[in-house]
Amino acid sequence: MVKIIGIVGSPRAGGNTEFLVKKALESAQEVGAETELINLGSVDIEPCIACDICKGTGECAIYDDMRDITEKLKKSQGLIIGSPVYFGNVTSQMKMFMDRSRPLRGDFKLRNIIAGAISVGGSRNGGQETVCSAIHEFLLIHDAIVVGDGAPLAHYGGTGVGGPKGDTKKDIVGIETSKNLGKRVTELAQRLYG
Ligand SMILES: Cc1cc2nc3c(=O)[nH]c(=O)nc-3n(C[C@H](O)[C@H](O)[C@H](O)COP(=O)(O)O)c2cc1C
Repeated sequence: MVKIIGIVGSPRAGGNTEFLVKKALESAQEVGAETELINLGSVDIEPCIACDICKGTGECAIYDDMRDITEKLKKSQGLIIGSPVYFGNVTSQMKMFMDRSRPLRGDFKLRNIIAGAISVGGSRNGGQETVCSAIHEFLLIHDAIVVGDGAPLAHYGGTGVGGPKGDTKKDIVGIETSKNLGKRVTELAQRLYG
């Protein structure tokens, strides 16, 4: 059975991003994946300090929750990364996660993992495509296999409209694209690793 990890980059537990990443993971389970949700708002991750120790040892010199997350990522075949739009980009929590993933890139431990993005903006403000692009670039630099939400909508991945009141629960396109992304990541992971 393939393992798909969902990462939520919002500091707000139970918010729009968590809702959509959970939708993607539910859909992954429906087609046969084992899943796990990691909420960056509930873990302790310090920023990268550019000590470059990982370049020599392959391991991060900082002892926090990123160590456990790194081990989980090494053992997964699929990855769904979700972030709210903050000033047209990913959240600080997501950027810390990205930078601290550098030890995984030493010998490309995420090479060929099937991966995609979910982003949620506030009502009408926009920025979802920029966030999906930032996540896609992160994944490409890890040599992951980047996918979108696939047919029938086939765009950037999961793209939602939320806001502080959690309107994503009424966002039909956000829910559909997130579910389609979960299914697509899983089906491709099964073809490669199942
Ligand atoms: C600091 C900050 C910056 C934001 N910048 C944007 C933005 O540039 N574009 C946008 O559409 N929404 C922006 N938002 C709104 C959030 O993206 C939106 O409320 C989102 O649904 C929050 O997701 P969450 O419920 O998972 O936390 C911003 C919110 C905050 C707190």
